[in-house]
Amino acid sequence: MSKQIILKRIFFVSLIIGCSTSLMASNIDNEVTKEASNQIKQPNLAKGKQLWQQKFIGKKTYAERSCTSCHGANVALMGKHIKTNKQIKPMALSSNPQRFTKKTKVDKWFLRNCKWTMGRKCTQQEKNDITAYLKSQ
Ligand code: HEC
Repeated sequence: MSKQIILKRIFFVSLIIGCSTSLMASNIDNEVTKEASNQIKQPNLAKGKQLWQQKFIGKKTYAERSCTSCHGANVALMGKHIKTNKQIKPMALSSNPQRFTKKTKVDKWFLRNCKWTMGRKCTQQEKNDITAYLKSQ
């Protein structure tokens, strides 16, 4: 075999190996993305409503806490802040079209209110469920 033919063979073999490994890598990438998005399920309105009304045990003055402590159980109506007594505009999108229009505002209040009410951050799934429930009202 001439040197040239050997070089050509080496070239093609490495080309094939190169292609198949990059194909394998992209398949693995796809699997990982699929897995991550599978963990977030379709928003569940019933779960959102249940979470909204669920009572959590808090410390000190406000021993019993829920989202309704400030926003009220009827999300189509005005709420009243449990600490300051200030009025809070309705959470239901049908009564207050301004709701869920600013992502920074939504993120800020979810963080603050989940921590105060539940003593922890809400998961992305919980936020999706609650948002879907409030948007449907
Ligand atoms: C201690 C009172 C209080 C409690 C309890 C509370 N919130 Fe709030 N929430 C507020 C106030 C005040 C605002 C800001 C004023 C406004 O948006 O009208 C707000 C705003 C929000 C917003 C912003 C929505 C938007 O786009 O305007 C979300 C989302 C929210 N609350 C979710 C929750 C959830 C979920 C719970 C229960 C885990 C909860 N809140 C419990 C007081 C409270």
